[in-house]
Amino acid sequence: MNILVINGPNLNMLGIREPELYGKSDYAALVALVEETCAREGIGVELFQSNHEGAIVDKIQEAYGKKDGIVINPAAYTHTSVAILDALKAVALPAVEVHISDVSCREDFRQVSYPGMACIRTFMGLGLEGYCHAILYLKEYLEHREK
Ligand code: DQA
Repeated sequence: MNILVINGPNLNMLGIREPELYGKSDYAALVALVEETCAREGIGVELFQSNHEGAIVDKIQEAYGKKDGIVINPAAYTHTSVAILDALKAVALPAVEVHISDVSCREDFRQVSYPGMACIRTFMGLGLEGYCHAILYLKEYLEHREK
């Protein structure tokens, strides 16, 4: 099983960026957590972070035929990007959405998720642990689908 974990804009600034919302751990700590979780579960993982919408679309397209599923935190593109939604629909890989903060309790403009419309599940408000939940959920989903 091979998955792709995508992080959108400003998530490379974790630890520095609004720590009261996103915590004190940095992006390297998130990478380590995801890699450890996947290694423990016997999952191959590639991590990708970009501040550019088109680069995220390219990466999703590249996953077609190569990866079994996607975990994605589209960050601010969550609330704007029909292009990322369309890319997820185009490759039709099972995708799980993650948000570190609880976006449901935040500003009105954060109440829509375009990429989320192509995802099988969303985890939010669990901090970095949300990525572990998303990985385990995706693994369960893929294992059951394969039966
Ligand atoms: C975020 C929530 C988004 O609204 C925000 O733009 C982000 C991070 C989160 O992980 O909580 O950049 O996706």
